[in-house]
Amino acid sequence: MLLFIDTADIAQIREAYSWGIVDGVTTNPTHIANTGKGFDEVLAEIFATVDGPISVESVSLDAENIVKEGRRIAALHENAVVKVPVTIEGLKAVKALAGEGIHTNVTLCFSPLQAFLAAKAGATYISPFIHRLDLAGHEGAGLIREIRQIYDNYGYKTQILAASIRSPRQVLDCALAGADVATMPMDMLKALYQHPMTDIGLDMFLNDWKRVPPSKLFAQAGK
Ligand code: E4P
Repeated sequence: MLLFIDTADIAQIREAYSWGIVDGVTTNPTHIANTGKGFDEVLAEIFATVDGPISVESVSLDAENIVKEGRRIAALHENAVVKVPVTIEGLKAVKALAGEGIHTNVTLCFSPLQAFLAAKAGATYISPFIHRLDLAGHEGAGLIREIRQIYDNYGYKTQILAASIRSPRQVLDCALAGADVATMPMDMLKALYQHPMTDIGLDMFLNDWKRVPPSKLFAQAGK
């Protein structure tokens, strides 16, 4: 499963990339607004920093203008992916953009049939919103399972991008359900590394190391 970071904060993107486990970036209008910077400036920074798919959201509601915005986004960089809402107009735009070889990420997906339609339209990614569904009393990971089954039944190549993630358990459930990608905020990426028994075990080993006579090998490494 690929991991994307869900932010437009360039400092967070740089740090997460330095860990070597992040494959791409997803942004949305909320993330762009939270940077306090201009849209063009933020995109230029992200494209210059990241070598991987970068989703940038269109803001029009009619197909004609979504396609225009999509072409402009795609012209910025070969890694650009155009985010489009799962509406009739949105999926008309996805079909047109796909015909031009432009990658799309169909967003705000809350049902398996929306995901089915996005695949038919030629979407590169479908983004089911896991936490928002969980909050509404549904099971986000269950949606991933249903989409996986539909896509596998018919051989759709659209990648399932689990979005709106707020807990490590949701990441695990999405991985078990067969998501191709999971996108999440920085604090969630950090949380994936954590387990209290790892910290306890590390403390024990480092304390015991104090009882070992000095080593020439590690002295060379500055220990
Ligand atoms: C994904 O591409 C979206 O940007 C993101 O996950 C939005 O969901 P949230 O606001 O619930 O996190």
